[in-house]
Amino acid sequence: MAPPDNRFLITGGAGFIGGNFVAKVLDENLGKVLVLDKLTYAGHRATLRDWEGREAYQFVEGDIGDRGLVHRLLKEFKPTYVINFAAESHVDRSIESADDFISTNIDGTYVLMDESLSYWQDLSGRRAQSFRFHHVSTDEVYGSLGATGYFSEQTPYAPNSPYAASKASSDHLVRAYHHTHKLPTTITNCSNNYGPYQFPEKLIPLVLLNALEGKPIPVYGDGMNVRDWLYVMDHCEAILRVLAHGEPGETYNIGGHCEMTNLDLLHTLFQCLEERSAFIEKHTNYKTGIDYSSLIEFVPDRPGHDRRYAIDAGKIQRELGWTPQESLRTGLDKTVVWYITHLDWCREVLADNYDRRRLGLRKAGSP
Ligand code: NAD
Ligand code: DAU
Repeated sequence: MAPPDNRFLITGGAGFIGGNFVAKVLDENLGKVLVLDKLTYAGHRATLRDWEGREAYQFVEGDIGDRGLVHRLLKEFKPTYVINFAAESHVDRSIESADDFISTNIDGTYVLMDESLSYWQDLSGRRAQSFRFHHVSTDEVYGSLGATGYFSEQTPYAPNSPYAASKASSDHLVRAYHHTHKLPTTITNCSNNYGPYQFPEKLIPLVLLNALEGKPIPVYGDGMNVRDWLYVMDHCEAILRVLAHGEPGETYNIGGHCEMTNLDLLHTLFQCLEERSAFIEKHTNYKTGIDYSSLIEFVPDRPGHDRRYAIDAGKIQRELGWTPQESLRTGLDKTVVWYITHLDWCREVLADNYDRRRLGLRKAGSP
């Protein structure tokens, strides 16, 4: 894509998708990277360990809502691109308390973008033209689908969880900054990601670890909720295309063409684990030959649980030539192999942090 003198200010780069994006930029020598990350429970230096000491990589621990810090980093690093991955990202946690979701996803995005506007207004010529503020968002802003249909860029926003509402607010702010101030923004709304470095509170890594350990696998409600799964590196590639060729002011939906009920997804994951039993025996002390399906426990549903998500990714395919490269089977196999060979990463990020207990059962409608 971009010439190697490009400079990427990546917020939330110590998290799941941001960490994979940092790896892609540095692996492919696309430019210099500065990560700004607050290192919440979901952000870990361990995710970025491979890059420490590289000349093209810098890390700053801090908050996207810290105006003074953001101002200084923009002035000193002089990014070509600001890519905002930083967020509170887990729906269940937003049910327990929305405080951090409001402060990071809404207030933080506002501060980061407002400072980016001042920075961009001081640029001139080619640097002003090539600058982009890219905001990474979710399909959850569109709410829930019935049995048919897809979310397109024209679907009205109808967020259902506090998490989705906070992301919707930030999307609106980004859109407004383009409309009012002409800040060259782009937004992507993506479906469920999976792959290496995902914090084991989300469905796939949580189930993977519980299955390996022979622990109960919690399935919310009837397990028939549908998500559209995308391998994380496909998402990262889509963002690179949008940075290089997307139109300022536009939004692009990104999805995996891979709708699955949660139960079907888990059965596919169990098959991948069974096919990898020799690999599991070689690399871990876990027993194999377990009937993983027998570990499933149906547990009370998530309050306000969206029934179905499915993305129409036609716009990004037509305009930017992007389609997912990984199939669910190949992507899940890579993910299984990665977790089996990175159990030390899992232990490190979970330590004193999260014990894989059920989250998000604050009673809906209680006084
Ligand atoms: P994550 O929770 O794994 O990582 C979030 C990162 O942001 C962490 O490193 C955390 O430390 C950092 N962070 C949190 N608050 C911060 C703050 N105030 N200042 C600086 N850093 C802060 O999240 P993820 O799954 O990698 O998601 C990244 C982005 O992609 C989010 O905006 C999310 O809404 C969006 N998204 C995620 C998915 C998905 O399936 N995971 C799908 C579509 C969109
Ligand atoms: O659609 C994009 C969104 O995907 C992102 O914006 C979010 O950041 C990301 O967390 C993800 O949200 P989901 O709520 O869909 O992901 P989660 O992994 O939490 O849950 C996936 C499905 O599995 C959902 O229907 C709830 C269900 N579930 C989840 C967990 C953690 C279970 O049945 N059991 C579980 O233990």
